Amino acid sequence: MERDHYVTANRAAWEASAPLHRRGASWQRLAEGFARPGFSCLDAVETEALEGEGVAGKAVAQLCCNNARELLSVKAMGAGRCVGFDQAEAFLEQGRELAAVAGLEIELVAGDVYGVPRRFDGGFDIVLVTIGVLGWMPDLPGFFGVAARLLRPGGLLLLHEQHPITNLFDVEQPDPLALRHSYFQPVPFEERRAVVYDGSAAPELAPFYWFVHPLGDTVTAALEAGLRLERLREYPDNISSVEYDVLATRPGVELPLSYLMTARRT
Ligand SMILES: C[S@@+](CC[C@H](N)C(=O)[O-])C[C@H]1O[C@@H](n2cnc3c(N)ncnc32)[C@H](O)[C@@H]1O
Repeated sequence: MERDHYVTANRAAWEASAPLHRRGASWQRLAEGFARPGFSCLDAVETEALEGEGVAGKAVAQLCCNNARELLSVKAMGAGRCVGFDQAEAFLEQGRELAAVAGLEIELVAGDVYGVPRRFDGGFDIVLVTIGVLGWMPDLPGFFGVAARLLRPGGLLLLHEQHPITNLFDVEQPDPLALRHSYFQPVPFEERRAVVYDGSAAPELAPFYWFVHPLGDTVTAALEAGLRLERLREYPDNISSVEYDVLATRPGVELPLSYLMTARRT
């Protein structure tokens, strides 16, 4: 199937899932949090990487920013111009709501990531990509090409993602640690349940698609886009939906559940 077919199907799924994210405890936590100056939802790995680079006054783009909670957190750390890109307008609307609560100014641009307008090229010191983005991408080289063209020379791509090894398991089965899928899964998983992060009930939707990208493919796509790898660290921490917590519960037998990759535009 064509890239656009997957992108369109995934957009519909995210738009349909948006109302589920606008209610419940996690939305409440964000709304209450951003009412406090300096609030951040970033975890220790992201915070340390951003502080190491320094964000004060820097121009930051976030690809597939969802409700912009992370971009707003970076803005609250003192970043300069902040622009978030996502194709789900309903989530960007939630981001505008959180920005108003926080009293922070960010720009949110709706559209397919593969078509980010050229006027943004070379405009950013940092491009941020976090948690649950690459799996939606039918075209990894195309994705890193966009990240690279947004960066000014010397700018940094910061990618904090769910580890692809998590795709070997089906965490909703009675034995969630059984190996069920290939690490080199050549076709995407077809999904139907709306996307929620907290394990709550989710309605059925039209099919949408999740791609397994081995770590080597991700690194290679970044290098081929003209980025120079600086750091690749794997962690045993689950940064994705709560269902994946079962993969982190074997004392002494740890899986890599997340990773941080930084790469710089040459
Ligand atoms: C799991 S969310 C990112 C979550 C975010 N890091 C957070 O923790 O709040 C993935 C996002 O990717 C967006 N997305 C998926 N495919 C896209 C595409 N082709 N173009 C733009 N955005 C896309 C979805 O709309 C969704 O908001």
